[in-house]
Amino acid sequence: MALLEIVKWPATVLETPGDVVTEFDDELKRLVSNMFETMYAAHGVGLAAPQVGVSKRLFVMDCSGGQDPKDRVVLVNPEVLMVEGEQNGEEGCLSFPGIFFPVKRSLRAVVRAQDLKGEVFEIDGMELTARCMLHETDHCDGIVFLDKTTALKREMAKRKIKKLQKAGQWI
Ligand code: NI
Repeated sequence: MALLEIVKWPATVLETPGDVVTEFDDELKRLVSNMFETMYAAHGVGLAAPQVGVSKRLFVMDCSGGQDPKDRVVLVNPEVLMVEGEQNGEEGCLSFPGIFFPVKRSLRAVVRAQDLKGEVFEIDGMELTARCMLHETDHCDGIVFLDKTTALKREMAKRKIKKLQKAGQWI
């Protein structure tokens, strides 16, 4: 296993819809296992392939932060089937280190995806699980959480990022 480099916004790959995964081979397994290791090392609960420079539709997620093996899951070719309700809470993203702001998301999301063997399954998640699945599925569609907030919050975040870039702290 190896740690992968997490690309930071505004990398083009973060704003490009990923390609559908068609090969469920060893290369995919290796990518996923490296993505898990990279996500845990960065203390994240979700990481999508475009965030490691791979323009494909898949993400890894573990909302327990490595505490519960049942929560360790990979979603290949995710598709949101149903959403319900609303939640508003602070959100972060490994491609925006140090940037947090409130994002409105659905309270519940049902997502259909494929596992590493290509088998189709569904996850019906609430709260953090729903938020994470929606955030990561957005990454697969080339959408970042900056696009999901108000114009005012977006400008504030962009100003903060510019400052960090100037200080050489956003590499
Ligand atoms: Ni993210």
